[in-house]
Amino acid sequence: MTVSVPRFDAINFDHVTADMRAAYERDGILVLENMVTGEACQQLMDRMAAMVDAFDVNEHKTFFSSADQSHAKDDYFMSSGSEVRFFFEEDAFNEKGDLIKPKELSLNKAGHAMHDRDPVFDSFSRQKNFQTLANGLGLTDPLLLQSMYIFKQPNIGGEVFCHQDATYLWTEPQTCIGFWVALEDATLENGCLQGIPGLHTEPLPRSLFRRTDGNASETIVFDDSPWPEEKRVPLEVKRGSVLAFSGQFPHLSAPNRSDKSRHAYTIHLIDREAEYPDFNWLQRKEGDPAKGFKPAESSLDT
Ligand code: FE2
Repeated sequence: MTVSVPRFDAINFDHVTADMRAAYERDGILVLENMVTGEACQQLMDRMAAMVDAFDVNEHKTFFSSADQSHAKDDYFMSSGSEVRFFFEEDAFNEKGDLIKPKELSLNKAGHAMHDRDPVFDSFSRQKNFQTLANGLGLTDPLLLQSMYIFKQPNIGGEVFCHQDATYLWTEPQTCIGFWVALEDATLENGCLQGIPGLHTEPLPRSLFRRTDGNASETIVFDDSPWPEEKRVPLEVKRGSVLAFSGQFPHLSAPNRSDKSRHAYTIHLIDREAEYPDFNWLQRKEGDPAKGFKPAESSLDT
């Protein structure tokens, strides 16, 4: 029984070693410590703080504030594939539709295209190390499909139930890989990621969340057997660590009941060669396809 997964010091990362690749293939997750500098984490956090500051809650209030707005909420989410949108914690609003706490302490996440809409997020997401990592884990032509900034607020940061990301980002064959970057220290107290190693080799994700008519959606469950909780490992990591995991790696996080936030940034990649069916909830706008990493700088030939 696996009780832990290996950790690799990635302070001088320049390629995926055979040991890293073996760990990823066995466990479905690779833990890379010190891959991103604290300065780079802070720069991303500062940029997000400025974006939140500029965000006018009142302009979007109709989407969030009451249960009878579920259609509007669905539309706001389902059409966010090419946008930067903000999603609030449940119970962030009172019955009058006003935020109970300041907006920066009420947000659950932002998504889903900061990597294409904002220059700071673009260069962070397309850093050379991430391209090397994506290629080293088997993506020959990686596309950056989705980005999310997860706030996991102090005291109220909500629980995320056990799931596989490929349920939400489906390709044929399965190629989704997530990079989860700890922008702050992630501990059991503030709701670090936890996961179940070794299940990523099942033939398919256990469920599929798909778009039906317009912005409606449904979840199809192929296998409802319980996750083997006894194999769950906590993934406590320091700021600057990167967790790279298969779209079929089951993971979850407990609520944050502590007084410390636990900001994290994720990007999800797929291989351009794989089919990305139209039933995926995340669809890019017409004329705005998902893009890869920056091409290598060409040599100056005259
Ligand atoms: Fe996830």
